[in-house]
Amino acid sequence: MHNIMITRIKGTQDITFDDIGYWHYVEEAIRSISHRYSFTEIRTPIFEATELFKRSVGESTDVVQKEMYTFEDKGGRSITLRPEGTASVARAFIENSLVNLGAPIKLFYNGPMFRYEKPQAGRLRQFHQFGAEILGSESPLADFEIIEMAYSFLKELKISKTKLFINSIGCPKCREDYKTALRDYYRDKLPGMCADCQRRFDTNVLRLLDCKIDKEHAKNAPSILDYLDEDCRNHFEELQWYLRKADIEYEVDPLLVRGLDYYSRTAFEIRSSSLGSQDQLVGGGRYDGLVEYIGGNSCPAVGFAIGLERIVMLLKSEKVNVNVPEIPQVAILAFGREENIRGFDYSRRLRKMGISTYVDVMERNMRNKMKHAARIGAKISLIVGREEIERDIVTVRVMRDGSQFQVDSDYMSDYVVDKLRDIS
Ligand code: HAM
Repeated sequence: MHNIMITRIKGTQDITFDDIGYWHYVEEAIRSISHRYSFTEIRTPIFEATELFKRSVGESTDVVQKEMYTFEDKGGRSITLRPEGTASVARAFIENSLVNLGAPIKLFYNGPMFRYEKPQAGRLRQFHQFGAEILGSESPLADFEIIEMAYSFLKELKISKTKLFINSIGCPKCREDYKTALRDYYRDKLPGMCADCQRRFDTNVLRLLDCKIDKEHAKNAPSILDYLDEDCRNHFEELQWYLRKADIEYEVDPLLVRGLDYYSRTAFEIRSSSLGSQDQLVGGGRYDGLVEYIGGNSCPAVGFAIGLERIVMLLKSEKVNVNVPEIPQVAILAFGREENIRGFDYSRRLRKMGISTYVDVMERNMRNKMKHAARIGAKISLIVGREEIERDIVTVRVMRDGSQFQVDSDYMSDYVVDKLRDIS
């Protein structure tokens, strides 16, 4: 009987030796930038009550209709693996009374999200987002800070060839008039349009604007910008004023409507021309109604999320230099039981000093241990054999040139530290 190989689930990734250095680099940048912007990390559960996403992301969205990983747990509750982070942050904000800490609250998160989408380059079923949210400010200055933060994150990672697109989709009041105008415009075109558009005409007519199949019609559709009321228009203009002052280039894209229902006023995306068809790196916007809609007191908010797989793809394709995964500085090659004990003692001493130390835990001969130490990239090997134990010494081998030195075991650490400094 064959043992059948069990493979990973479609649309998921193993991040291994080849890529882990990129992920560490990106995660370090996330922590560092969030710290410098004074955003505090929040960690919410990976699964939530299905109702949370239905209500916040919206019943009529693709995410809720087609893409959620929803299941019933053993207690008969409907559970969903989070497809995005904003809904959970808003829920946690309410549930933990974070409003009491004083407005605004600035939060960031980084973690896996799940969407049952058709996998392709840059589109996965388990992917990761770095997101940031400001809760409690209605000011366009908050929108500006969110965009500016996403922008500096990309800049810090040396990701170029990106473009910022912004739009305002108004507030529920002015959007109603716009929706009516849009329905009037699309009504007679609808019979020839795709099934998604037919469905969205009633439930989410704004999404007809970013349909990939029927994009021709969108060009002549009425523009949301002509329908904004005075407050929404001023808000949008103020944001643009800040962006211009900060020299952040942008393009107003009146067709940008975003795929999640909670947005109001500002919507934005940063796209990259190096990404191919999945070109959206960053998505975000304002969601003034969400907190109240899921049971909190009214609280304006704005945020962004960045897809980390897409960031890693860009770093690799633009050959950005990241530190390769840590390679050991020292390898311990011991032969025999006593020798192993001594080897472990050395490793403990070195690790205490912060030196990355690899102990070869295979029972094999000198030649093979040495070959392995070279393969893993150790800078120095410490050899502990019978002779070393008897004379209370250790043999230090510099891997680069094969030079060897016998050192009194008491001086091992000092010697290794000096040597590492010499050869680095
Ligand atoms: P989103 O536009 O759905 O927004 O996703 C944000 C980013 O996540 C995208 O720009 C993309 O880089 C990445 N992403 C989305 N789906 C996938 C996928 N299947 N595979 C790989 N990457 C993906 C949100 O999720 C909002 N919560 C953003 C936000 C925060 N709005 C306000 N605050």
